[in-house]
Amino acid sequence: MDFTAKTGSAATVRTDCAIVGVYKDGRLSAAAMEIDAVSDKLVSGLVKSGDFRGQAGATLLVHKPAGASAKRLLLVGLGEAGKLDLKGWRKAHGAAVKALLGTGAKEAFSFLSSETVADADTYTLARHAAEAAEEAAYRFDELKSSLDTPPPVFGKLAMWVADRKSQSAASTGFKHGQAVAEGQSLARRLGNLPGNVCTPTYLAAAAKKLAAAHQGLKISVVEQAQMKKLGMNALLSVAQGSRQPPKLIVLEWRGGPKQKAPVALVGKAITFDTGGISIKPAPAMDEMKFDMCGGASVIGTMATVARLNLPINVVGLVPAAENMPDGLASRPGDIVKTMSGQTVEILNTDAEGRLILCDALTYSRRYKPSAVIDIATLTGACVIALGHHLSGLMSSDDMLANELLRAGIDAEDRAWHLPIGPDYDEQLKSNFADFANVAGRDAGAVTAACFLNRFTRDLSWAHLDIAGTAWKTGQAKGATGRPVPLLSQFLMSRAGVA
Ligand code: BES
Ligand code: MN
Ligand code: ZN
Repeated sequence: MDFTAKTGSAATVRTDCAIVGVYKDGRLSAAAMEIDAVSDKLVSGLVKSGDFRGQAGATLLVHKPAGASAKRLLLVGLGEAGKLDLKGWRKAHGAAVKALLGTGAKEAFSFLSSETVADADTYTLARHAAEAAEEAAYRFDELKSSLDTPPPVFGKLAMWVADRKSQSAASTGFKHGQAVAEGQSLARRLGNLPGNVCTPTYLAAAAKKLAAAHQGLKISVVEQAQMKKLGMNALLSVAQGSRQPPKLIVLEWRGGPKQKAPVALVGKAITFDTGGISIKPAPAMDEMKFDMCGGASVIGTMATVARLNLPINVVGLVPAAENMPDGLASRPGDIVKTMSGQTVEILNTDAEGRLILCDALTYSRRYKPSAVIDIATLTGACVIALGHHLSGLMSSDDMLANELLRAGIDAEDRAWHLPIGPDYDEQLKSNFADFANVAGRDAGAVTAACFLNRFTRDLSWAHLDIAGTAWKTGQAKGATGRPVPLLSQFLMSRAGVA
């Protein structure tokens, strides 16, 4: 989509559609008042008659608004007056674009940016306008033999700004927002592809394609034979029940000073999680194709980083495997020696994410990273704890944790800090190996993090459990591309560009 920042008045602007806001108590935004003044009270009439109530995210399309120069008028609900925050504003913008995608309008002019939004400057509004628009326009129909709805004609959005100076802030915001959206869309696409298409081999090929498209983005893949030599027996044990060979995908971006330690991102990519011999129940098992969304978010974030040419060093590591039951699959009780030298008793083959991550985390040490962040759809327990709104964040480094929480707030892609510590860690005790891969039902998200922390001693490490946030279930089933916005923001902040 194309984004521009312009000045102008809602009543006189020539556009396929003017987008203006209305609050829940019927109060009109400044732009809605301008339209009202030239149109014999068209907007206040719609409010009075009860046809439009201004609820957050509601929209109403009006054709040929009399007295105005726009061909269409789109009213957008802004919720309660005086309480408009970035989240609500972004939601309103997304709803507006969603509504326009089903119309004949090719472009539109949004005046929502002339309202006061708490804690948001022009850069921020532009950034979120672009992200919300791309998010709303995202479709996944490449596997349908005919389209449910024809492709939209809408493709150009102008956003109102006060003056020239704001124009340059807005264009930086658009640029950043589009880059984040590009990474997020890539993560969504990889997530939405089914397990029979998106195998570890497919993911490696997708990463290669990404690297080929971006000057300076390097790719290498650690293959099964090499994993054996490195002693990655935990990762290999997960893959051994599958016909699909595992891959450890390594994407490297060296945009910063040569000697500067990189940030390492490590993303779980189980391309399908049946549970293995500890097999999962049938209901909703199809959703376990999304079990590679952590890895997809790493690939997506690397796309954003490369697109923005960020002056920072980043290494993206994606351990990819399929968890299947089979004659060769791991048995409950099997003991493996991890790359770190520690032995693990696999009491439950469905706790496989931590097994592929632990070896990838150990592997990340060769890059001497300044911080290591792993991202994983790791536990159902995290969904019980936080639902589908916030990602779980666990860390051995409070400074790093706070940096990530802040990035989540700024990016509108939030996380919540959960504890780790020796009391929880003790639950991993095994009678036969150094420790087990499961620790009982209590605090399952936390004990999973404690397991990972046994491989990240003396690193600055954080873990994002995205089991509740990586995809939506039900009617709108599909990958969200989270936490690409959070990770991108974290790296943009570290790079000093946003
Ligand atoms: N991929 C799942 C976690 C998951 C489950 C994410 C449901 C989203 C929705 C993970 O591999 C898993 O199976 N975890 C187990 C761990 C348990 C055996 C300790 C779980 O959460 O039940
Ligand atoms: Mn599992
Ligand atoms: Zn899993």
